Amino acid sequence: MEHRKRGWVKGIFVEEKKLANFFEQFLTQKSIFSNKQALQPEYQPESIQHRDKQIEIVASVLAPILKSHKPNNLFINGHTGTGKTLVVRRVTNHIKQVAEQHNLPVFIVYINCNLKRTADTEYRFIAQALKEIGRIVPYTGLPTDEVYNIFYSEVDQKKGQLVLVLDEIDTLVEKTDDQLLYNLLRINEHLKDSKVTIIGISNVPSFTDMLDPRVKSSLSMEKVTFPRYDAAQLLDILKQRAAKSFAEGVIEQGVLEKCAALLGQEHGDARKAIMLLRTAGEICEREKQQKVSIQHLDKAEDSIESTAVLDFVKVQPQQHHATLYAILTACGQRQQSVFTGEIYERYQEICKNASIRPLTQRRVSDIIQEFDMVGLIQSKVISKGRYGRTREIELALPPATISQVHDIVSEGLSLKHG
Ligand SMILES: Nc1ncnc2c1ncn2[C@@H]1O[C@H](COP(=O)(O)OP(=O)(O)OP(=O)(O)O)[C@@H](O)[C@H]1O
Ligand SMILES: [Mg+2]
Repeated sequence: MEHRKRGWVKGIFVEEKKLANFFEQFLTQKSIFSNKQALQPEYQPESIQHRDKQIEIVASVLAPILKSHKPNNLFINGHTGTGKTLVVRRVTNHIKQVAEQHNLPVFIVYINCNLKRTADTEYRFIAQALKEIGRIVPYTGLPTDEVYNIFYSEVDQKKGQLVLVLDEIDTLVEKTDDQLLYNLLRINEHLKDSKVTIIGISNVPSFTDMLDPRVKSSLSMEKVTFPRYDAAQLLDILKQRAAKSFAEGVIEQGVLEKCAALLGQEHGDARKAIMLLRTAGEICEREKQQKVSIQHLDKAEDSIESTAVLDFVKVQPQQHHATLYAILTACGQRQQSVFTGEIYERYQEICKNASIRPLTQRRVSDIIQEFDMVGLIQSKVISKGRYGRTREIELALPPATISQVHDIVSEGLSLKHG
């Protein structure tokens, strides 16, 4: 007993010593980051590169506000990570500063419609907008008309110009159809002493097609598109960001260039490029190395891809899990290709074991095609002469994710064993 007790105490001691060492080492390790905060998505860079034209358009559309004229409404679109939010925030902050210096009644209300519980209903949206201008109303309980009336009267009491920025406006229309937007666009009819200008921002290219023509024409009096960044532009953005966030000289030659090349053109996404660089830095730090190398960047790319795959698989419905499970077991560990017929047979068996009603082979084929489109599998159609055609399927999952995907789908199907 005494002996065991001593062993146990010794175990803790060793553990504690190891931990203490670990933290000591962590403290003394020179950080490769000088300001990691600068790699966070919400960080405001000092200057915005390659967006002069867009900044100029947004600024000149809004400028009349300073002379008490109502600007046209503005609609901004462009793919994700192209600097839309950054530019609008920057220009509206500036105009607000100038207005303050000249004692002009200019108010900016920024609402991200994608935030949960912000724009789920017309009511919630107006309550949120009211909160932004300093009036609290309960989040439920009043008749919707009354909340609208409170909003109109609060805005009117401002006796000034209000810019209402509706970021990720597509989610607003998805959640509330276009009635709310229609009402907002007609708000000036209810106002005597104030004027409201609306800036809508969206990253869904077909967004305006979703709108009623009346809404569409009054929303997009002026339009501006944010193109994707090419690799050279991303490189400039990355260089600027890296200089703010990494210690001098820790990024090896070629790393920023590769990062920019990976996310230029077809993605053109500055957010992803910055995230990739940050992840590479974190991996370098975890490996206790002093220089961020191309290998760290490659590992970061794999890790981001794996996370995206797992996030996608997690939210799939059960029938998709059953199909994916059939593909996983059919292709096996050796990643050999299989025909759809075999997958369908396995799928039926899995449905039986998991007590789910099987879909038709055609429907399962559609699911397989969906997987192909998002890149979980690769498939090719093979002609079998007079026996028709079949599809040959191969897994395209990042190898590091296979066992986790396996676990997620079997858990989703409540299967214990593969
Ligand atoms: N031209 C630029 N210069 C410096 N940083 C930039 C530039 N463009 C984008 N960024 C940075 O990239 C990230 C994404 O930009 P932003 O949030 O403005 O994209 P977005 O177009 O609004 O994307 P989404 O449609 O997904 O909302 C931010 O961290 C931003 O600071
Ligand atoms: Mg945005």
